[in-house]
Amino acid sequence: MDGNGRWAKARGLPRTAGHERGVEALRRTVEAAGDLGIRYLTVFSFSTENWRRPAAEVNTLFGLLKAYVQRDLSRLKQDGVRVRVIGQREGLPPDIAELVDRAERETAANSKFHLTIAFNYGARNEILRATQAYARAIAAGEVTGELTDAGFEQYLDTKDLPDPDLVIRTSGEFRISNFLLWQAAYAELLFVDVLWPDFNKSHLESAISRYHERERRFGAVTPGAT
Ligand code: FPP
Repeated sequence: MDGNGRWAKARGLPRTAGHERGVEALRRTVEAAGDLGIRYLTVFSFSTENWRRPAAEVNTLFGLLKAYVQRDLSRLKQDGVRVRVIGQREGLPPDIAELVDRAERETAANSKFHLTIAFNYGARNEILRATQAYARAIAAGEVTGELTDAGFEQYLDTKDLPDPDLVIRTSGEFRISNFLLWQAAYAELLFVDVLWPDFNKSHLESAISRYHERERRFGAVTPGAT
């Protein structure tokens, strides 16, 4: 969800105003994704590298997550949305960690739409934590035999989620920025020149159309090409 700061700067507003509008874009996108038949949406809200930002901005982002869960949880629950938060729980302020746990617990039975919020998330950190947990399980004798991709994936934050088909980065930057590095190995990547606060249903529709133009081979050859 990139481009909040530039959106605000272009209007002479503080960066935090861009993040606030970013939450509205998130609400719009969750609704649009549901309307378009998408069942899994994962958004990158706060990276393990975002701690390098000024403390006031970090606090704003934490406050926005808190306010979003507090305001939207009952509606998300009613709408059949299962909420997950991926990333390192350790390091989150206790009130936020508690709220996140509650959101996950109270929506655990939902399956109509899966909203995953990557918060205090970095793919390298996730892979490292998963490796540590996998190694502990092996040392404890809980895992025996061959080590496999599928076995390792059970230790990732995304263990119950399918790999993403499409990764969209807004704001015209061409980077992955430590997002779902393992899971997006075969995702289609789309870089759109729209600042996140401006992102709307028509942008999502256009992204999906462009996705359908891609040919996914997963390392194989196109049938009939040999
Ligand atoms: C990147 O734009 C955006 C972020 C680091 C934060 C994204 C967060 C939200 C949209 C709100 C969080 C809300 C919830 C509900 C989790 P940037 O600030 O890097 O923009 P810039 O590149 O233009 O400076």
